[in-house]
Amino acid sequence: MEDHQTTTIAHTWLAVMAIAVLPIASVLILTATKMGRTVVAPPKRKGPPVAECAPLLGVLPAILTRSLQDVMRDQYSKLGSVFTLSSLGVKVTFLVGPEVSAHFFHAAESDVSIGDVYKVTVPIIGKGVGYDVDHDTRNEQHRFFADTLRPAKLRSHARLMAGEVEEYFAAKWGAVRGTVDLKQEVENVLLQIASRCLLGKKVRDHMHDEVSSLLRELIGDLHLVSLFFPYLPTPAHRRRDRARARLEEIFSGIARLRRSSSAGRGAGDDDHDMLQSLLDSRYRDGGGTTEAEVTGLLVALLFTGHHTSTTVTTWTAARLLRHAEWLHAATEEQRRLLLLQRNDQNDDAAAVIDYDVLLRMDVLHRSVKEALRLHPVTPMILRRARRAFTVRTEDGAEYEVREGRMLASPLVVNNLLQGIYRDPDVFDPDRFAAGREEDRVGGDLAYTSFGAGKHACMARGLRLPADQSDTEPSPQELRAPAGISLPGDGEHDLHEAQRGSHGKLQETPSAAVVH
Ligand code: HEM
Repeated sequence: MEDHQTTTIAHTWLAVMAIAVLPIASVLILTATKMGRTVVAPPKRKGPPVAECAPLLGVLPAILTRSLQDVMRDQYSKLGSVFTLSSLGVKVTFLVGPEVSAHFFHAAESDVSIGDVYKVTVPIIGKGVGYDVDHDTRNEQHRFFADTLRPAKLRSHARLMAGEVEEYFAAKWGAVRGTVDLKQEVENVLLQIASRCLLGKKVRDHMHDEVSSLLRELIGDLHLVSLFFPYLPTPAHRRRDRARARLEEIFSGIARLRRSSSAGRGAGDDDHDMLQSLLDSRYRDGGGTTEAEVTGLLVALLFTGHHTSTTVTTWTAARLLRHAEWLHAATEEQRRLLLLQRNDQNDDAAAVIDYDVLLRMDVLHRSVKEALRLHPVTPMILRRARRAFTVRTEDGAEYEVREGRMLASPLVVNNLLQGIYRDPDVFDPDRFAAGREEDRVGGDLAYTSFGAGKHACMARGLRLPADQSDTEPSPQELRAPAGISLPGDGEHDLHEAQRGSHGKLQETPSAAVVH
């Protein structure tokens, strides 16, 4: 459905821009026409093929009885790389694979908008930040985030993180035998890390439990209904709103205290927590952040960072537990790097996992990347077409996509494309090793787990130098260590575990056995 107000503003803006930049735009459009397969063009051609389904409900029954990802994969194999699904009057056009995705990922906001679709996050993140503000302000706020992720800051956080992990598992898992909820355990430890690194030691020590349960209420499980109807008065949405209001009280209180006096900073708080970084951030015009903005930015960091980190950590753990040779390779790598660190420092004291050691964990990094390929944190990325465009498929078919149409890039289909990944259903971290690098060979739109193009995730830069893999032990020669395992066997049940059902977007595995 078209947002008339937004479109009017966009048209006015486009008119001004057209006069100002016409000569440059002509050159760019000519170049884009030659290079890419997607061009902005006057609507002439037929629309993409539409999936056959029930008249009004459309694909909804299939999504509810099977899963969204099964439906997307089926339609891709039936209809090809560009197709439309519809339900209850909402139409979504899917663009699968690099050949048809350049416009989706690279077009200007005035052509293909991210802001229009992610407005659904406003009730969670709050007013005055993120997708509630204009594109330029949002970019400035992303700069504040980028600043909190600078190596100098991460360097000081790495030890705090390792400390939290060790403390958690020593206290909670010391005497545990039997089944644990893997996802829950990962979530708990990541919340402790988040409290410590984002909000400082005082919050971590005194308010962790309340903040954690509020965050759980706020974020909850992502349901399709929240994506399309974020303000529907459901019990889950009411819980979300109450939690958001209480978090605002807590975070603004801390921010006010920090700003009003140095006494607000308790013993053990340091200059490096992300709250302080956001309080110190400045817009280009010299203005500082308000308490409400700092609250919103903290919630945004927790919202973007927490769900994604929990999902990827749980899936990486599940995959490593299922593929013992890789678990062994990753733990051997850690043992070897810590040994090297001790030798380098010429010190008999126990070695610690710090930022430099983390940076050199190549096997672990490739395992995370492979887990993310098979189990992306979101099944699809969404946009809205603000202007009509024509897309050409690899086999030469051309379709017109209409102005106002919702667009989707389905990561759960993109990441399994045969033409890019060898044996795409198999967990094989070596596909990213020097010599193969299937993602790089496939081009900049081949690996989409961190998005791509203009809105690619800023956390994807937190990656390893790619030149260390030749020193790794061969995984085939190694055996998995005892201690924890995953019930079941084979790849199949992990693929099954990911399918979201009953309107949930996707699932994460939970049970693991400690012995
Ligand atoms: C493994 C963890 C993460 C994964 C898998 C992930 C994934 C993604 C994906 C798929 C996108 C593209 C969204 C789109 O194009 O619509 C994205 C964008 C983004 N992510 Fe992440 N993310 C992760 C962690 C983080 C963290 C920790 C932060 C906190 C700073 C963050 C901040 C962002 C930002 C600011 C964007 C850009 C959104 C925009 O341009 O509007 N992400 N991420």
